[in-house]
Amino acid sequence: MNGTAKGPVLQATGLVKCYGQLSALSGIDLTVLSGERVAVAGPSGSGKTTLLNMLGGVALPETGTVRVNGTDLTQIKSAARDAFRADHIGIIFQMFNLIPYLSPIENVTLACRFSRRRHAVVTNKSCSAREEALRLLMRMQLNEATIIHSPAFELSIGQQQRVAAARSLIGSPELIIADEPTSALDHDVRQVFINLLFDEVADAGATLLFISHDPGLADQFDRRIKLTDINELH
Ligand SMILES: Nc1ncnc2c1ncn2[C@@H]1O[C@H](COP(=O)(O)OP(=O)(O)O)[C@@H](O)[C@H]1O
Ligand SMILES: [Mg+2]
Repeated sequence: MNGTAKGPVLQATGLVKCYGQLSALSGIDLTVLSGERVAVAGPSGSGKTTLLNMLGGVALPETGTVRVNGTDLTQIKSAARDAFRADHIGIIFQMFNLIPYLSPIENVTLACRFSRRRHAVVTNKSCSAREEALRLLMRMQLNEATIIHSPAFELSIGQQQRVAAARSLIGSPELIIADEPTSALDHDVRQVFINLLFDEVADAGATLLFISHDPGLADQFDRRIKLTDINELH
């Protein structure tokens, strides 16, 4: 955890989410403070991705509020929510969601094209979005030829995951949410990735919410939450 201000970056209260007749989440309250690294663990099907979608403003709950930096994502229009997410939240999706025919560097710089704020954060460091994307991708241990020339669909799962991490980090959004990004990786590679992610999150002064079904990872975080403990349905 960094040693500076500790206000809440994320405050969710009373979240309820249903898919038709199926209740996926109920009564979820969750507060994450600035600079915290929090692991949310739960078995497959327990609602982890559903929770991430609510907290990242990707989908809306039936009831409840989700405040990120004080803005309630449930109270703003869809276009404003998309713009807010692009500026303030970096998401590493479970399936990575890279644009398959774009190279790693193009996938990462895209995050700055969707957000003037993140673009400005990068250029204020006196480098271009392309230079910063290259730095992050090389930091994530991808080689330069792959970064510049390989379309994302040609990359291994481990490489795609590191591109997705670089894309979430560029321009220092305050909140990084990762949805089981290490699930397809061998143990050694997994640890290397987590170390890199922690380093970059700390450098950016960001807050990390890391969703995982792997309890072995949870020890490394400032705080561990079991989704089944905070979901009234269980
Ligand atoms: N789009 C959807 N439509 C219908 N049911 C869904 C949808 N997404 C998830 N679910 C259901 O909601 C529950 C929680 O799913 P999910 O959030 O994906 O869990 P996890 O990420 O922990 O594996 C599961 O029962 C799943 O089948
Ligand atoms: Mg999931």
